[in-house]
Amino acid sequence: MKCRKCSRPAVINMRHHKLALCEEHFPEWFVSYTERAIGKYRMFRRDERILVAVSGGKDSLSLWDVLLQLGYRADGLYINLGIDGGFGYSRLSYEKVQAFIGDRPGVQLHVVDVAALYGETIPEVAGRKLRGRGKPCSVCGLIKRHEMNRIAQEYGYTVLATGHNLDDEVAVLLSNLLHWQTGYLVRQAPVLVEREGMTRKVKPFCRSYEREVAAYALVWGIDYIYEECPYAVGNLTNFYKDLLARIEMESPGAKLQFYQGFLRAREEGFFCGEATEPPPMHPCPQCGQPTTVPDLCAFCRLWT
Ligand code: AMP
Ligand code: FES
Ligand code: ZN
Ligand code: ZN
Repeated sequence: MKCRKCSRPAVINMRHHKLALCEEHFPEWFVSYTERAIGKYRMFRRDERILVAVSGGKDSLSLWDVLLQLGYRADGLYINLGIDGGFGYSRLSYEKVQAFIGDRPGVQLHVVDVAALYGETIPEVAGRKLRGRGKPCSVCGLIKRHEMNRIAQEYGYTVLATGHNLDDEVAVLLSNLLHWQTGYLVRQAPVLVEREGMTRKVKPFCRSYEREVAAYALVWGIDYIYEECPYAVGNLTNFYKDLLARIEMESPGAKLQFYQGFLRAREEGFFCGEATEPPPMHPCPQCGQPTTVPDLCAFCRLWT
């Protein structure tokens, strides 16, 4: 297989785009494809300050790299969750983030250590709250969202960017559709607009296949943690990802069509209606972040 642009050997063949590219032209294409997504969905402007949530994985580190290459003012945020999993998952992922900034003098990284700040690691707080039953993922998601928003608000970032890729988005979409979660469907978008106390959230890789992001990290020499969170192994999202991979194999481009078709339907108001109106919010009396519940927000209730 040869590169479409220069005829040298291709490092990736993207059947869904009918495009094969070499190690020089693929990264170039990938960066400009991301820039087009940022523009198409009006994610942010040149003069905005962006906080990139980095986990040490390929998606978020590649995203940070691409935004810096494009000349955006992008700082990082790493949340130490205190997860070990028998191989030091959080420690290893932090090492990857540190190696990334070590190669890029002048970039700023915020680090939040959950145990140091709140007295318990994620497995500890989840174990206490769930009384040892179930995985800590939902508690972890709640804490991550809260801390990302807190840092963005405290330091005056107008945008919070995460590394969610197309494979992540279609897996969530399939799950939301199977359960007809119309409230979630109406909010599943490349951009979640800001509201009082809540920073705008964006996903610049939402149209990029996981395979493309991995190829970018590999070709561009971004070192990342290969292992996924020990609690994610065998979860439902990964099952949906496997199913979607089989569909993609039979029908190249199926994931992208599924996602873009959904966004069009969403724009046309397909999932709107009274039942999907976001409930009114008010500030939590303890942390000040917007919440729908009458008293303390779900995050603050974790520590009571
Ligand atoms: P996940 O929920 O693990 O699939 O991660 C989705 C996105 O959330 C990643 O691409 C990152 O942008 C962000 N993220 C996940 N874990 C962390 C972390 N420990 N610290 C900062 N950001 C994170
Ligand atoms: Fe939070 Fe796995 S439980 S990343
Ligand atoms: Zn080429
Ligand atoms: Zn609160």
